[in-house]
Amino acid sequence: MTDRPDGGDGGALSALLHETRRFEPPADFAARANARPGIYEEAAADPEAWWARQAEHLTWDHHWDRVLDWEEPSARWFAGGRLNAAYNCVDRHVEAGHGGRVAFHWVGEPEGDIRTITYADLQAMVCRAANALVELGVEAGDRVMIYLPMIPEAVVAMLACARLGAPHSVVFGGFSAEALAARTLDADARVAITADGGYRRGATSALKPNLDEALERCPAVRSVLAVRRTGQEVAWKEGRDVWWHDVVDRQSDRHEAASFDAEHPLYLMYTSGTTAAPKGILHTTGGYLVHTATTHRLVFDIKPDEDVYWTAADIGWVTGHSYIVYGPLANGATSVLYEGTPDAGGRDRWWRIIEEYKVSILYTAPTTIRTLMKWGEDLPAAHDLTSLRLLGSVGEPINPEAWMWYRRHVGGDRCPIVDTWWQTETGGILIAPLPGITATKPGAAMAALPGVSVDVVDGDGNPVGNGEGGYLVVDRPWPGMLRGIWGDPERYRQTYWSRFPGRYFAGDGAKKDEDGDLWLLGRVDDVMNISGHRISTTEVEHALVSHPQVAEAAVVGASDPTTGQGIVAFVTVKGDAAQSDEEGAALVVALRETVASAIGPIAKPRQILLTPELPKTRSGKIMRRLLRDVAEHRELGDVTTLVDPTVVNMIDGKMQSAETAGED
Ligand code: WTA
Repeated sequence: MTDRPDGGDGGALSALLHETRRFEPPADFAARANARPGIYEEAAADPEAWWARQAEHLTWDHHWDRVLDWEEPSARWFAGGRLNAAYNCVDRHVEAGHGGRVAFHWVGEPEGDIRTITYADLQAMVCRAANALVELGVEAGDRVMIYLPMIPEAVVAMLACARLGAPHSVVFGGFSAEALAARTLDADARVAITADGGYRRGATSALKPNLDEALERCPAVRSVLAVRRTGQEVAWKEGRDVWWHDVVDRQSDRHEAASFDAEHPLYLMYTSGTTAAPKGILHTTGGYLVHTATTHRLVFDIKPDEDVYWTAADIGWVTGHSYIVYGPLANGATSVLYEGTPDAGGRDRWWRIIEEYKVSILYTAPTTIRTLMKWGEDLPAAHDLTSLRLLGSVGEPINPEAWMWYRRHVGGDRCPIVDTWWQTETGGILIAPLPGITATKPGAAMAALPGVSVDVVDGDGNPVGNGEGGYLVVDRPWPGMLRGIWGDPERYRQTYWSRFPGRYFAGDGAKKDEDGDLWLLGRVDDVMNISGHRISTTEVEHALVSHPQVAEAAVVGASDPTTGQGIVAFVTVKGDAAQSDEEGAALVVALRETVASAIGPIAKPRQILLTPELPKTRSGKIMRRLLRDVAEHRELGDVTTLVDPTVVNMIDGKMQSAETAGED
């Protein structure tokens, strides 16, 4: 952890706190909003009773006995209750007469490649997939890996697992074979679901070949179910690999959903921590579904029979799990599911999708908003975006410029913006304005949701006053909270519940402004946020030092105008490796590839600087704080604890000359 509770932003974000613009909820929005005045007071009066009332929106096979059993750090929500998550997301809507409602308008990356999937269709697809998984020997409790592009089968596969009580572990398609293998081994999965490949800006990318490579290290995986998406040639292992269209399509479209304990594991989602090993965040069934459905209903104001909702994120991240799959489907919403990048088929692709499907609610990340901003306001202006009524943001702090651009050029100055703070660990949104109730400020996530209690504390755990910053903590258990780190209860306790006893430590810096409203300031630990994706500095350092010519590596996240943060690596080489400029340049290229194959292309450093030495304290600790100053072109902080203070000046000089030489 750094010693800077302001998130180490060097004061840039603190300047935001002088923001004076305020946007009141539009009266017509407020008149029809799902969140009613008084909701905060009502929830605060008895949070557990309030969550229990939200839980009544789901269909339970057996009612819970107690709302919460809490023995820090272990929570059981809706203890004794039983339900099936897939039944709640699909079947019950069909049984209620909404089978003809569209669940997904799926838009493939190639133009014209579209599918419309109603709730009745989804029910049949999920039942067939569940029957196929049973045929492959999947039983309740078995972990199933999912490594798929953004195609309907990804949602179907997740729900089929949920239906069987087999926790899924979805790995983002951009992760490498090595990263996939580590996750598969940690989860001890026996079955994996993939596709031959996926589309990315017109080109096809390989998925099954990566999985095949990963599985060389995972002999316990006995079945691979593969969707044919791109039609590319793929290797085939007889006895292990089967095609989705061979095995799933011939199954019955009926399947009886069993009910599971509210605390039955629903899924694992691996995320980066401060050490090299990613942690398998465990979510369970009842509380998670209550949390995602409730927050989706209140924060996104969903009206299932009117809205067209679009979370423009990948299913491989928690945002896709909670706000493409579980929350929207539990609420019976109609969503857009888009396979590609914002510029696939032209930089106006998003605006065309919104216009065509009359999208009313859009949820995306600041990094994407900044990219769209760079492409210019003429593109959104050329399309009819008047169907939009609400905009959301997630993944990193949103800068006021991006917020204002989003409001004006996408939301036509009429749509409320909800800046939503949460994490893989929290399962769902914890901090956000409620549209129709909360006046918003550009860049502020504003306040904890009803039923949620957060605070900002100093290093000793004392709440800070208004106008001050510190560490974000959550004071009370919440239904969507992680139940643990897969296979590592001690790491769970240590990471989240030891820094401030009795409170959940989020790892984020935050400030309360003069009005007591909350501003999130970014991570205070060694986790970077690259385009809204969490990557640990340690993970990248491990990848770099795995290269035979590297002696030591230090990695920092430096602020970046588009991606939020960019990865900058400082590397020392062994012996007489890479002495000439040419050898150095070749090594830098090789190192970027090493990182891509260890983690994935998303983790490739923006810049790698080869240096004879790294700045160290007398106890041998690398001073990353100073390297961050270097990477962000700031005046260097305190260098007195260094063994050799000249080292950092030397690196600073090297950095500057590298940049003038255009090596960046
Ligand atoms: C950051 C993504 C500021 C934060 C849902 C958190 C945010 C990490 C916001 C979790 C926001 C997410 N404002 N920062 N609205 N939302 N973050 O697990 O640092 O991929 O700890 O979950 O993203 O990232 P994760």
